[in-house]
Amino acid sequence: MAHDVTNLRKFVSPEIVFGAGSRKAVANFASNFGARKVFLVSDPGVAKAGWVAEIQTLLTEAGLDYDTFTGVSPNPRVEEVMIGAEQYKSAGCDVIIAIGGGSPMDCAKGIGIVSAHGRSILEFEGVDTITIPSPPLILIPTTAGTSADVSQFAIISDPNRRFKFSIISKSVVPDVSLIDPEVTQTMDPFLTACTGVDAMVHAIEAFVSTGSGPLTDAHALEAIRLINTHLEPLIANPSDAQLREQIMLGSMQAGLAFSNAILGAVHAMSHSLGGFLDLPHGLCNAMLLDHVVAYNFSACEDRFKRIAETMGIDTRGMTPPVVRERLLGRITELKRHVGLEKRLAELGVRNSDIPSLSGFAMQDPCIVTNPRKSSQRDVEVVYEEAL
Ligand SMILES: [Fe+2]
Repeated sequence: MAHDVTNLRKFVSPEIVFGAGSRKAVANFASNFGARKVFLVSDPGVAKAGWVAEIQTLLTEAGLDYDTFTGVSPNPRVEEVMIGAEQYKSAGCDVIIAIGGGSPMDCAKGIGIVSAHGRSILEFEGVDTITIPSPPLILIPTTAGTSADVSQFAIISDPNRRFKFSIISKSVVPDVSLIDPEVTQTMDPFLTACTGVDAMVHAIEAFVSTGSGPLTDAHALEAIRLINTHLEPLIANPSDAQLREQIMLGSMQAGLAFSNAILGAVHAMSHSLGGFLDLPHGLCNAMLLDHVVAYNFSACEDRFKRIAETMGIDTRGMTPPVVRERLLGRITELKRHVGLEKRLAELGVRNSDIPSLSGFAMQDPCIVTNPRKSSQRDVEVVYEEAL
């Protein structure tokens, strides 16, 4: 009898050090990897906030040489990965450290892939395309949301196709993630909102994904609870270190869930949108989330009911249509409270763009694990609802 593998689940995670000050262990970890010269990846905003200089000082104090690369834009591009990989090679580096949001972390993953294989990053689009191990990678996230520091995803923008492509592989899970809530202090309220909602979307999509299961469900639900409870208060009190830590923890839990259960239509559609208009990833997700939940609800009513309960809705005695309405109400309320209420048309999306946006979304690997099977026409309708 053939062995049925559809119910098997696996779970990968980096070594994680969580807590205020964990970034200060960075030189220790680099030394343990035998680093001779560290390649330090970041972006201009994180450098301006002073976090890059601090890492440089820590490396110098530990007697480690380094070379710094901050040429990463908000949606990291193919060209930036290739320039970074060239610099990594010519500087003779052997360990990569990235400090920043999803963009520098994804760019660092790309630099590792290219420097190991000596080929264009464009050749690694898709699932399990990596054959040679990357150099040791240490990530320090400065936003509480993208979870590139724990995930097996790297998302790279290809401006030629106006398309963000996904690389999904165990090989892009970093070796070490130093998750330090202190470095999220320098996020402005808009970035806090965008990345916090991104984390919420990770948790919701992971919980209803066709790849969900007992290894990821607990992480997803705990992430939903933490973010639902603490994100609005954090936007109102940005200097509250305890709230910041709870959101960082929620983001990490969401990351562990989605990295292993994969995502769904919100991310497929938002990658397409972000590649087309170069918009912030979390904002794209926020604009699509309620519309995708409305579309998906009938495919897994019980799972959405548990999400509603985790978001504080007492569902006792409610029929599924009422649960759906209340859940959508809470999601739009959350979006409103954190200031992410825009519609696609306000950001420059036109009706005539929708067929091409939908075509790209259908090619994204995240559409495969969406709980409701979707045709291109289904995706078009959801974009239309969000317009
Ligand atoms: Fe995301």
